[in-house]
Amino acid sequence: MMKPIKVGILGVGTVGGGTYTVLKRNQEEIARRAGRGVVVTMIADRDLDRARSIAEGGVTVTDNAHDVINDADIDIIVELIGGTTVAKDLILAAIAQGKHVVTANKALLANYGTEIFAAAREKGVIVAFEAAVAGGIPIIKALRESLTANRIEWIAGIINGTANFILSEMREKSLPFAPVLEQAQKLGYAEADPTYDIEGVDAAHKITIMSAIAFGIPVQFDKAYIEGITQLTQEDINYAEELGYRIKLLGITRRAEQGIELRVHPALIPARRLIANVEGVMNAVVVKGDAVGATLYYGAGAGSEPTASSVIADLVDVTRMQTADPMHRVPTLSFQPDLLSDTPVLSIEAVETASYLRLQVVDKPGVLAEITRLLADCSISISAVIQKENADEGDLVHIIMLTHKTLEKNINTAIQKIEALPVVTGQVTRIRIEELND
Ligand code: NDP
Ligand code: HSE
Repeated sequence: MMKPIKVGILGVGTVGGGTYTVLKRNQEEIARRAGRGVVVTMIADRDLDRARSIAEGGVTVTDNAHDVINDADIDIIVELIGGTTVAKDLILAAIAQGKHVVTANKALLANYGTEIFAAAREKGVIVAFEAAVAGGIPIIKALRESLTANRIEWIAGIINGTANFILSEMREKSLPFAPVLEQAQKLGYAEADPTYDIEGVDAAHKITIMSAIAFGIPVQFDKAYIEGITQLTQEDINYAEELGYRIKLLGITRRAEQGIELRVHPALIPARRLIANVEGVMNAVVVKGDAVGATLYYGAGAGSEPTASSVIADLVDVTRMQTADPMHRVPTLSFQPDLLSDTPVLSIEAVETASYLRLQVVDKPGVLAEITRLLADCSISISAVIQKENADEGDLVHIIMLTHKTLEKNINTAIQKIEALPVVTGQVTRIRIEELND
C-alpha cells in the first residue's frame, strides 16, 4: 500500500472531534477503501486544551490554524471552524498552498462558493463538502454523480436538524420553543449563531448549494427567499394536524418556466407523505428527476459522528481522486464549470403556492362571505374552510382556510385587504402548503 495521506484538521469541536474519533476507530477499513491510510497528523483549535484532549502521540497540536496550512507534509486540510471570515481566509490560503480542502461549512460555500471553487480550479485542487448539506446524508454525491442522467425538476428537503427537532418536540410534547432550542444546542446540532437555524438561514445555505448542483447555476445565496420557524404557534401546528397536514421547515428549489425557485419557509405537507414523518434531528431530501421520478434520502442531519461520516467520505474521495488529472475529476457543481447556466433565480413574488390562512374574526353573519369575496377578487380559490370557537375569546372565532395555488403577489394583496376589514382582528397567519406530489 502507498504511504498514508496526511490530514490536518482545523477546529475540533462537535464535527472536528467526531471526525478524529471515527477516522481513528475505523482506520483499518477506511485504509482498505481508500487504498492507503488516511491519517491526521496535525490539529488546530483555538482551545488548545480541547485539541490536546483528543490528540494522541504523533499528532501535533497548535492554536494557530496557519501552522497546519503551512506544513508542507499535509495533503488535505479539513476546515471545521465554521463562519465566513477566518474560515474563508484559511481555505483560500490552503488552496493557494496547493492543498485539497474538505469542509462542512455551508455558510461559506453558499456565500463565497464561486470564488472558492474558481481558486481551487486554478490550483488544480479539490474542495469537497458532502457534510455541508444534510449532515450524514450523502446527498451531494447523489445529486452530483448518481442522478446525472436526469433533468432535475425539483428538490424539497427538511435540511435543518435543529428546526426539525424543535417542530417535532412542539408537536409531539407540546413543549415551548426556547427550552427545546437550548436542548438542540446542548446536543451539538445548532449553529454557533442559532438564529441561522430557526430563521431558515442555514437551510437556505444548503438549498442554495443543492440548487447550484441540480440546475448547473452558480451558488446565489443572496437570491434565496428565507422565512424561519419563529412565528409558528402551537395552534397552527395543531390545526394543521387536524387538517391532515404536518408543518415542516422546507428548503425548496424548482425549475419553473421563467427561472429557478429558491426558497426556505415553513410548509404544511400532507401527513401521509414519507417526508412529513421525518422527526427530530433527522433530515430528508426528495429529489424529483425526469427519468428516475422522486427519490428520497433520509438520515441524521446534524451531530458529531453523522456529520463526521460525510467529512470522512470526502477524505476518502479526495484520497482516491487526487492523482487523477483535474480535467477528469467529477466537477464540483456536477456541471462543467464553463457550462453553468444563467437561468435566473425567481423572486418570491413570481412563485405560485397554495396557502393555509388563519384569521381571528368577529362571529357574526356575513363575515365569511366578505372574506371569501375578497379572496375571489384576488383570483384565489378556496379548497377548505373550518371555523374554531374558543371559550376564552368571547365572540371572536378563528377561521382557517386552505387555498389552491396562486401567485405569491395575489395572496399578499388578499391578506392586506383581509387585515383591513373591521371584523378581522390582528394579523392573518399564512403558511404555504406543499403537496409534493407533482
Ligand atoms: P464547534 O463550535 O463545535 O467547533 C468549532 C471549533 O473550532 C471549536 O472548537 C472552536 O473553538 C474552534 N475555532 C474557532 N475559531 C477558530 C480558529 N480561528 N482557529 C482554530 N480553531 C477555531 O462547531 P461545529 O463542529 O458544530 O461546526 C463546525 C462546522 O461544521 C461549521 O461550519 C458548521 O456549520 C458545520 N456543520 C456542523 C454540524 C453539526 O451538527 N454541528 C453539521 C454539519 C455541518 P471555540 O469553541 O473556542 O470557539
Ligand atoms: N445546525 C445545523 C442543523 C447543523 O441543525 O441542521 C447541520 O448542518
